[in-house]
Amino acid sequence: MNAPIDPTRTSAWADLTSLQENLTPDLRGWFDADPQRVEKLTLDLADLHVDLSKNLVTDEIRAALVRLAEQTGVAERYAQMLAGAHINTTEDRAVLHTALRRPAGADQALVVDGQDVDADVHEVLEALYAFADRVRSGDWLGVTGRKVTHVVNIGIGGSDLGPVMVYEALKPYADAGVQARFVSNIDPTDLAQKTADLDPETTLFIVASKTFTTLETLTNARLARDWLWAGLAAAGAIADDDASRQDAVAHHFVAVSTALDKVAAFGIDPANAFGFWDWVGGRYSVDSAIGLSLAITLGPDAFRDLLAGFHAVDEHVRTTPLDRNVPVLMGLLNVWYVNFLGAQSHAVLPYAQQLSRFPAYLQQLTMESNGKSVRWDGSPVTTGTGEVFWGEPGTNGQHAFYQLIHQGTQLIPADFIAFVNPAYPLQEDGRDVHGLFLANFLAQTKALAFGKTAAEVEAEGTTGTLVAARTFSGNRPTTSIFAPALTPSVLGQLIALYEHITFTQGTIWGINSFDQWGVELGKQLALQIAPAIEGDADAVAAQDASTQALLEYYRSHRR
Ligand code: F6P
Repeated sequence: MNAPIDPTRTSAWADLTSLQENLTPDLRGWFDADPQRVEKLTLDLADLHVDLSKNLVTDEIRAALVRLAEQTGVAERYAQMLAGAHINTTEDRAVLHTALRRPAGADQALVVDGQDVDADVHEVLEALYAFADRVRSGDWLGVTGRKVTHVVNIGIGGSDLGPVMVYEALKPYADAGVQARFVSNIDPTDLAQKTADLDPETTLFIVASKTFTTLETLTNARLARDWLWAGLAAAGAIADDDASRQDAVAHHFVAVSTALDKVAAFGIDPANAFGFWDWVGGRYSVDSAIGLSLAITLGPDAFRDLLAGFHAVDEHVRTTPLDRNVPVLMGLLNVWYVNFLGAQSHAVLPYAQQLSRFPAYLQQLTMESNGKSVRWDGSPVTTGTGEVFWGEPGTNGQHAFYQLIHQGTQLIPADFIAFVNPAYPLQEDGRDVHGLFLANFLAQTKALAFGKTAAEVEAEGTTGTLVAARTFSGNRPTTSIFAPALTPSVLGQLIALYEHITFTQGTIWGINSFDQWGVELGKQLALQIAPAIEGDADAVAAQDASTQALLEYYRSHRR
């Protein structure tokens, strides 16, 4: 793999530095001075209408940012990724989540490391759809012959956040009488609460784990298996012998993993397992077989539409010049805010209750990808990296943390995401409630951009010290992403948009956005500390003073 280019040594970086030094943000003035500003900074990407005009950029800044992408080889690295180069250097792997959504019958098959990737992907997809149809139609039955009403996805990280986010977003498409639940946390509360009202006879568990070694997932899978056996036995549905228990697992457990041998060792029939590949990162896997719970609940057609949405954005990134390439421009804006304007976080504010889990999903996508201090050749990064992504749906956030975005001392760029048509077009007293909702979206981006001057506050009759408190500086940057409706395809487009934003930022910073070594130490230590919790004296003695004291607190307060 070629050495990363140090962005700070490019001429574009020098240009951006001087542009920043001479910058006086003035969105009011910029809008007044340039009647074309909105047109120039609004781009359509498939169904996404993206308005970048309320960002703190001028024509010159935009041009310099595009030069930064050129000089750091963003297009070249994207081409390497699409071709299956091993750009995940620390794990020596290709990075091919884009292959998961290539349509069948592409002119030229994608062959990587000797494997026909397109053929592999579509073979699994067909198996996934066939299985989903069996569950949906009632052809697949529980051990007592009853139709499945609930699928419970057991997974964590990328094996949870994507499926749960998409399920919440697209629930209006769930049309076959099968609901999904998602168990992720090793806190036993999670499994206990999510199964409390379920009937084992009509519940199907999906154990979703890329590695099939993850402590949380395997622990929860074993707990779920015990719950199933106990429930079926209590109902007199299975006999108290190994063969009956195995039969129950065969009817109520399926798996999704790259490690099909480990699936078999758990006791799940490999015939009921769906594979994927080491070139799919966990946080990039919702469009692989990891989406099985979605194919079942929402249906294969919705899943196909989701994939088509992803692919439309991949094609946009592949074929669009950098200066009109939406994910690249959004990634560049993020670099501008982090490295030149001092932003440390980025808010994502969906005006769609259905996207309530989208910020959490993005946290893994962006922060596990770009929260790093070394580059892909092992050398230290040369500039700040990975900002904190966070958010909540509007309008809830307006009544919680927007105060800080409007009047706090930090610069927090924010993406607003909204849809013209609601899933539930409710009326209140003859008035479209969704319209009122959207008025809030528009109002917030307007207030953040243009603020309210002291003179405007005074003109309303406010005087004295209250004037300052009621003044809004404006010049708080936002991007508005508007789409006709939250369909499966549009959701696929949104997810792919952020995947490619993340990639653009990672590439400019010289980061391998596809490994996650930073999660390993905690996992190792948890395994070492587990015996100490059980009271093993040697394990306790091996801990530091603070951990020992906390263990002692645990021991003395345990009921
Ligand atoms: O601990 C981090 C992580 O490796 C994520 O990257 C991944 O999505 C998650 O754990 C779950 O891993 P698996 O799918 O292998 O169970």
